[in-house]
Amino acid sequence: MDPSHGVDMLRTQHRLHRRWGLMTMIDQSENQSVNPRATSAKTFRDVLDLRLSRRGFLATGAAAGAVGVTGCSDASVATPTGHAASAGSVSFDEITRDITDTIAYPDGYTADLVIRWGDALFDDSPAFDPMTQSAAQQERLFGYNNDYLGFVELERSGGRVTRGILCANHEYTNTVLMFPGIAERFPESMTAELCEVEQAAHGGTIVEIARGEDGGWTPVVGSPVNRRVTARTPMEITGPAAGHARLQTGADPSGRRVFGTFNNCAGGITPWGTYLMAEENFNGYFLGELAEDHPEAANHARYGVPGGWYQWGRFEDRFNLNAEPREPNRFGWVVEVDPMDPSSTPKKRTALGRFKHEGAESIVAPDGRVVLYMGDDQRFDYVYKFVTAGRYTPGDRAANMNLLDEGTLYVARFDADGTVEWMPLTFGTGPLTEANGFDSQGEVLIEARRAADLLGATPMDRPEDVEPNPLTGRAYVMLTNNHRRTEDQVDAVNPRANNGVGQIVEIIEPDGDFTSPTSRWEMLVLCGDPSDETSGATWNPSTSEHGWFGSPDNCAIDPEGRLWVATDGNPRTGSNDGVWAVGTEGEDRGTGRAFFRAPVGAEVCGPRFVSDGRTLFAAVQHPGDTDGATFENPGTRWPDFNNAMPPRPSVVALRRNDDGPVGS
Ligand code: FEO
Ligand code: CA
Ligand code: CA
Ligand code: CA
Repeated sequence: MDPSHGVDMLRTQHRLHRRWGLMTMIDQSENQSVNPRATSAKTFRDVLDLRLSRRGFLATGAAAGAVGVTGCSDASVATPTGHAASAGSVSFDEITRDITDTIAYPDGYTADLVIRWGDALFDDSPAFDPMTQSAAQQERLFGYNNDYLGFVELERSGGRVTRGILCANHEYTNTVLMFPGIAERFPESMTAELCEVEQAAHGGTIVEIARGEDGGWTPVVGSPVNRRVTARTPMEITGPAAGHARLQTGADPSGRRVFGTFNNCAGGITPWGTYLMAEENFNGYFLGELAEDHPEAANHARYGVPGGWYQWGRFEDRFNLNAEPREPNRFGWVVEVDPMDPSSTPKKRTALGRFKHEGAESIVAPDGRVVLYMGDDQRFDYVYKFVTAGRYTPGDRAANMNLLDEGTLYVARFDADGTVEWMPLTFGTGPLTEANGFDSQGEVLIEARRAADLLGATPMDRPEDVEPNPLTGRAYVMLTNNHRRTEDQVDAVNPRANNGVGQIVEIIEPDGDFTSPTSRWEMLVLCGDPSDETSGATWNPSTSEHGWFGSPDNCAIDPEGRLWVATDGNPRTGSNDGVWAVGTEGEDRGTGRAFFRAPVGAEVCGPRFVSDGRTLFAAVQHPGDTDGATFENPGTRWPDFNNAMPPRPSVVALRRNDDGPVGS
């Protein structure tokens, strides 16, 4: 390794994570309507004591809520079993917290580089040349900055999954690392051609992957399921808001047709095997300015529109508010895509509400209704769940394909006594009436944030991934950080002011009933450095010096019900980001263990287990994105380490050399 690089890495350790700093500076749209319940003079220690005293409830509560999992390829289906179930603890040789320019994982494991930005998907895919990028080239290649990873099992042999479909979101593009000769992250000098490359690098990829003779995962180039979804793919708008006047534009008077999706952060795979792509920071893609008294002005302000990050609006009216003031209302949704049919039209499911959707993980409740947990990732925004009106029909895919068009969207209020009240965003109930400017359920969903403000939801420390555990009847909320929370804004569930490291909250559904309008909550862990007495971190004391982390972002539940957490922001804590296992049960509860470390500058997204437990996929996003990094001088050249190639966001498969279950 180049020793001069070590100096750079050390400098990086003392700097803010560049992307985080950017988001802090340019996204001023957070919720200013902070709920009075959120103001409290309690210190985090007071409220923590309150929450810890409830641990006794947990032991019995977990048993009472015991559910089991039934076999179903990639679906999470909870069914009562009548016996206590819990997740076990993990076992592997822990890695270290460190700043290095490549990946790290435990002894006895292998990492396959499954697919990189620019890798071929189709028989006619052109060779990737970072010096001569075009939209035509990028549309046939794996996109940029992989975030969510879904996996739909296709084939299994002897208990071992051998073939499946990988679904990967491409969240955003980064000019300085993607393109040669650009020194500024969002330059106004962007050409129409480069904007088209950016659009083609966004969205998602659906690609068949298979295990070879050596057990490694590789893409099946030319598979009939392979598909790119981009910021230009035609889509249908469905559900209660479809056709609403506020979704109608000059190009689409019907309010039912839209081109593309972007800033797809996390997502989900439904029990019927469709791929959900969550639209997160859509505000950043719009330019222009509306008069203060424009009918959309207050709505756009609540969502931070226009963000003005990308220059697309200079070349296309739909991204320019002055030309199309309603176009932003057609983004901020969850998109459902059928990965088995590349000719199918993706659908924006408006019943799930419009906000900065982080993810959309689902589970079938014991009564057959499907429940999705969703975070709105902004400082002081909310946690939601959606319960379908209809019931899941096992084995009848067609019967399930429109389940997400009808149901009830709820927003969470986390009370200090450990109660979660899920409040319905239902037109005509409570404050969600014409008196407050809502004309229909469609309009409540278009302005879901304002509706949730009126209901008194609890403003959270940036809700990222929320994932249900089918084995225990609980769900885990990743709250990544919130530097702007002040001492008089702390509450039981967000107990630290100037919170730079985040926390993980556990939701306990009564009797494993994920549809319940009332749940309980516990603090699983307040993140941060436990050796720093001022940090307020609450790790289990058995956590090693490498086992703690900050800024939880994405998570996964493995087939044994164990929690794994991927992070975005640990350069601030002196380590690259990575994946840590976090104990949730008994004496192991709250213990962190370091499993995977990304290269410098990267965050880790995904993570996703194959249902046989033998592979953990991890998405390495924005490798080399250190302070001041450029295409010519990136923080690392992982994974190619070729001076002619910039760093490439990539998907890694982590598996045991003996092919046993990961973490056991
Ligand atoms: Fe795209 Fe909330 O992370
Ligand atoms: Ca995220
Ligand atoms: Ca997840
Ligand atoms: Ca992230």
